[in-house]
Amino acid sequence: MILVTGGAGFIGGNFVLDWLAQYDEPIVNLDRLTYAGNLETLQSLDGDSRHIFVHGDIGDGPLVDALLATHRPRAIVHFAAESHVDRSLHGPEDFIHTNVTGTFRLLESVRRYFGGLSDGERSLFRFLHVSTDEVFGSLAPGAAPFTETSTYEPNSPYSASKAASDHLVRAWHFSYGVPTLITHCSNNYGPYHFPEKLIPLVILNALAGKGLPIYGDGLQVRDWLYVKDHCAAIRRVLEAGTPGEAYNIGGWNEKPNIEVVRTLCHHLDRFRPRTDGKLYEAQIRYVTDRPGHDRRYAIDAGKLYRELGWRPVETFDSGLEKTVRWYLDHSQWVENVTSGAYRQWVQRHYGS
Ligand code: NAD
Ligand code: TYD
Repeated sequence: MILVTGGAGFIGGNFVLDWLAQYDEPIVNLDRLTYAGNLETLQSLDGDSRHIFVHGDIGDGPLVDALLATHRPRAIVHFAAESHVDRSLHGPEDFIHTNVTGTFRLLESVRRYFGGLSDGERSLFRFLHVSTDEVFGSLAPGAAPFTETSTYEPNSPYSASKAASDHLVRAWHFSYGVPTLITHCSNNYGPYHFPEKLIPLVILNALAGKGLPIYGDGLQVRDWLYVKDHCAAIRRVLEAGTPGEAYNIGGWNEKPNIEVVRTLCHHLDRFRPRTDGKLYEAQIRYVTDRPGHDRRYAIDAGKLYRELGWRPVETFDSGLEKTVRWYLDHSQWVENVTSGAYRQWVQRHYGS
């Protein structure tokens, strides 16, 4: 049995689905179901006794203590977080609540649980903390990609809160002996992605005939990884990573935002051409830049490849094509997401 936090979100949801497609080992899935948590993603697991969903907060110590005591997981994979940079600029407090205080309280529950395990159970137990490349800050063009030992230089409330949680995880390893693993992944994309992030937002706006908002000059660079490759990397680190170590996960896919958006438009032109015969690129709109917008992220995932043999399966083109097709084929999922809180958020953020 493993415990997953945030398993109703984008990456956690994909992780739960992929895990149970491959293994019979059950998952307890603890999720608070914020705006980003969507149980419809896990609909195919309805009635599957290997998936135990628990609605709750990672910061609820008594609840987490009880879950650990009841289910006695051999590992915890910690995805739960507030994850959207733009939201962190509008309201940073939720990010401190979940990413910092929530992770702290979770670690305290884990420390209590770990202390009560037998020697054999302790040697097998792992706490895997899912972090981001954004904790390392922004790279100049041509600068070497981030490694696991790059300096922490977070620039947004989101990345600062993730950096704080990384430090707590590291300290709980060195101070209390909890066998932790930290992963730093680049930008993910793929199925079940909440449409406030660039790639799903652009696909859905394009289909709805709306503008495709490009912040600033659109030349900010991100490294993009297909979400299922990220899930495979996490499984590999969980299986063979060394406690106390951090591992970078990346797609070797650095792209400027404008190129990502143009490629998405190209796939949409092929699969669902506009009825007026024009190209989707005509919907691109340059809008005011995000404050403190990091210019470039790039990740060196060489350690994970050398030590644990992981490499992504998807190329940027194959992953993006799959993603566009997925959104075209899952209009019901999309419709149910877009009819909820998401709409109010878009109104507030892009309203003017
Ligand atoms: P997401 O926002 O889609 O999902 C987060 C999930 O956590 C949601 O289901 C939400 O309900 C749940 N949650 C939030 N607060 C909670 C709380 N207090 N208690 C319990 N559950 C809570 O996020 P995501 O994109 O799936 O990201 C998952 C993790 O991966 C995050 O830690 C994020 O920092 C990290 N990460 C994301 C990316 C990316 O590109 N999306 C890249 C690298 C790392
Ligand atoms: P996002 O998907 O929010 O991820 P992150 O901020 O974690 O990298 O944004 C990816 C890039 O796309 C980032 O440089 C901001 C940019 N962006 C836009 O240009 N327009 C948009 O509407 C959004 C949401 C993002």
